Amino acid sequence: MTETPAPVAVRLRGITKTFGSNTVVQPLDLDIRDGEFFSILGPSGCGKTTLMRMITGFETPTDGSIELDGRNVDKVATRDRDLNMLFQSYALFPHLSVYENVAFELRVRRTPKAELDGRVREALQLVRLADFAERKPSELSGGQRQRVALARAVVGRPAVVLLDEPLGALDQKLRKEMQFELKRMQREVGITFIYVTHDQEEALTMSDRIAVMSAGRVLQVASPIDIYDAPASRFVAGFIGSCNLIPARMEAGKAICSGFGAVPADTVDAQARGVRDGDEVVVAVRPERITLHADPALAPAGAARGVLAERVFLGDEWTVHVSTQGAVLTVQVPSGENGAALAALADGAEVAVSWTPAAGRILPAEEAAA
Ligand SMILES: Nc1ncnc2c1ncn2[C@@H]1O[C@H](COP(=O)(O)OP(=O)(O)OP(=O)(O)O)[C@@H](O)[C@H]1O
Ligand SMILES: [Mg+2]
Repeated sequence: MTETPAPVAVRLRGITKTFGSNTVVQPLDLDIRDGEFFSILGPSGCGKTTLMRMITGFETPTDGSIELDGRNVDKVATRDRDLNMLFQSYALFPHLSVYENVAFELRVRRTPKAELDGRVREALQLVRLADFAERKPSELSGGQRQRVALARAVVGRPAVVLLDEPLGALDQKLRKEMQFELKRMQREVGITFIYVTHDQEEALTMSDRIAVMSAGRVLQVASPIDIYDAPASRFVAGFIGSCNLIPARMEAGKAICSGFGAVPADTVDAQARGVRDGDEVVVAVRPERITLHADPALAPAGAARGVLAERVFLGDEWTVHVSTQGAVLTVQVPSGENGAALAALADGAEVAVSWTPAAGRILPAEEAAA
């Protein structure tokens, strides 16, 4: 790894989209680097596809400008932008073989025969379909068809490939396999991938960086680890993984929750981010960072008391709800010793929960106004 960041492949400045009176993408700045696996993650209707369509040129931004590889493309047609898009609902040509489906674009561009053949075979190899070249789409599984669509998207070696929920139609197992395949493929070819999903796990496992979107805004752009461990807002904390959000108010530099007292939290970090006394906040704590004490008498000082409200056995762990004075907390308890102690308890038993201050992240109670 070098210290110099890769050059910017896609640069968005003030990009906005309004349909009638409805602004679906709010003014947005974004830099996506060369060779990056960049995901756009957000709930249905937040503007992901619209954003992708503006980058490709299928949609004209209401305002703002787009650069690809340092070149302004505001007036450049889709076919002259060095990119390809794999749509949410892709379609293969049913009457053409796998080979011809992948070759189609190169034929349109009148690529010389030998080069075309080399490229198509290479793309099929990449998606591990070299032995399926002569099949028709109807003779393939859903996952194999998906891989043909992928081969077709990369065969022309564009600088950027945009993928809009490409795995949405696949079942869970196939999805997981394809996630690894996609990631491997992207590394091999070094193409910049812009990947849209509303599946947070998918975004976490595949991406170099993630942009979290909500209601037409990008709320945070960061690595998967930072998005998970250091969410910048209540929405991001709640949207990525499961997270306890304990309502509190800042008093004398501490997060105070009625009934809970001082909530263990990283106050230094909160101050650095501008949280002040008098602010309404939430303390975000991940379930796996909370320790459950089956015997409250043995809990460390500062642990909160509660009662066991619900528990679900998941094999490798338990998901437990503990009802405290301040909030109902979700706690993840690994199976094994602690899990055995938990299993022995009766519903409604008194327990205690604790976590280190570093595990509690203080966030503004209200999102910035939309
Ligand atoms: N051509 C259009 N005319 C009017 N409104 C539109 C148009 N295209 C999209 N919208 C609206 O813009 C908003 C964002 O749509 P978009 O398709 O970008 O969402 P998305 O994040 O891709 O959602 P999903 O995850 O469901 O695919 C939605 O409210 C949608 O109804
Ligand atoms: Mg969409």
